[in-house]
Amino acid sequence: MQQLKKVVLAYSGGVDTSVCIPYLKNEYGIAEVVTFVADLGQGEDLEVIKQKALKSGASESIIGNLVDTFIESYAFPAIRANALYSEKYPLSTALARPLIAEKLVNIARELNADAVAHGCTGKGNDQVRFDLAINALAPDLKIVTPAREWNMSREEAILYGEQFGIPAPVSKKSPYSIDVNLLGRSIEAGLLEDPMEEPPEDIFAMTSSIDDAPNSPQDIEIVFKNGFPIGIGNELLNPVEIISKANDLAGSHGFGRIDMIEDRVVGIKSREIYESPGLLLLIKAHQELETITLNSDVIDFKGIVEKKWAQLVYQGFWFGPLKQALDAFISFTQRSVNGRVKIRLHKGNAIVIGRLSENNSLYREDLATYSQDDIFNHKQAEGFIYMWGMSNKIWAELNSKNK
Ligand code: ARG
Repeated sequence: MQQLKKVVLAYSGGVDTSVCIPYLKNEYGIAEVVTFVADLGQGEDLEVIKQKALKSGASESIIGNLVDTFIESYAFPAIRANALYSEKYPLSTALARPLIAEKLVNIARELNADAVAHGCTGKGNDQVRFDLAINALAPDLKIVTPAREWNMSREEAILYGEQFGIPAPVSKKSPYSIDVNLLGRSIEAGLLEDPMEEPPEDIFAMTSSIDDAPNSPQDIEIVFKNGFPIGIGNELLNPVEIISKANDLAGSHGFGRIDMIEDRVVGIKSREIYESPGLLLLIKAHQELETITLNSDVIDFKGIVEKKWAQLVYQGFWFGPLKQALDAFISFTQRSVNGRVKIRLHKGNAIVIGRLSENNSLYREDLATYSQDDIFNHKQAEGFIYMWGMSNKIWAELNSKNK
């Protein structure tokens, strides 16, 4: 194997990615390990993480503020796609991976590095997403994956790190594996590995419990333009502001928790807890607005597209040709998705209580009404039903038991 001199490592500040630094240098003989930390709105002190990388032996530590791009170019397309993997998970972790991968590749090119690296293990989805995204953007670039190869238990990895001055996690270590960004939190492991064990209240940070949620409901309106959320109530907000505000509103009313058994790409079923209040709220509102702004055949077919879109993103194909083709379909449909949706937040629920589109509504009261203002031509129904039921009637004439 060609001797690698410089790699760019996706770095989180956790023990595993920290151990990757001395491991890459000592076991792979790589002279320079440059770390990259992505700011995705996780609310951590990135300067501390940067220093930690340098202390662990990184030659350079880069912080990239990706929050705006993350929301505009990753979360917003997911809202247009009403993207829910297995009809539940809004892909809050999955959406971040192709963006981090893209940044890693760009930095590797700029610094003339001969490889990129990540600290994902061999049984998760994130390794798949990183590898596939990197392959799509830079098919020639080598990917080094120490945690997939080192065969160390977590305890062994901590001991290995201690030799190089990487402190073992001090405070009573959380038994959970948690991934956080502005779109949500994913919580795995510990007692959650028993699918029958109820998630303890203290694992949640973005959503309040039903008990603690306010007793009085709160009604809000979410405004959309071309399928993108642009405001809440009368306030026009930029994409990051919208997600943040939606997180606060929905989270404080206890809406946005998910407890599910998830089918990972590698064939394992795993028990996942998520909280993603803002994204789930916006998807719900968006889906509702489509019910008055899209034709029924488009809604029907878009459902198939949405399911596939969510699977592709979950499974690592963000930059793949099918995902891009589906994006083109979705974009076309969203030209008419303009208007507002009224939602009542109350005790863990987000209940749709109204929808309006000033210029793109396909809902016609004069056709729908049961009042005297009805303009629908009832007589035409007879001829329609004659043909609509023709094949059914022919079948019945041959097969009906009460002939
Ligand atoms: N199962 C989720 C997903 O595939 C969450 C993954 C969490 N990742 C992590 N490194 N903790 O998107």
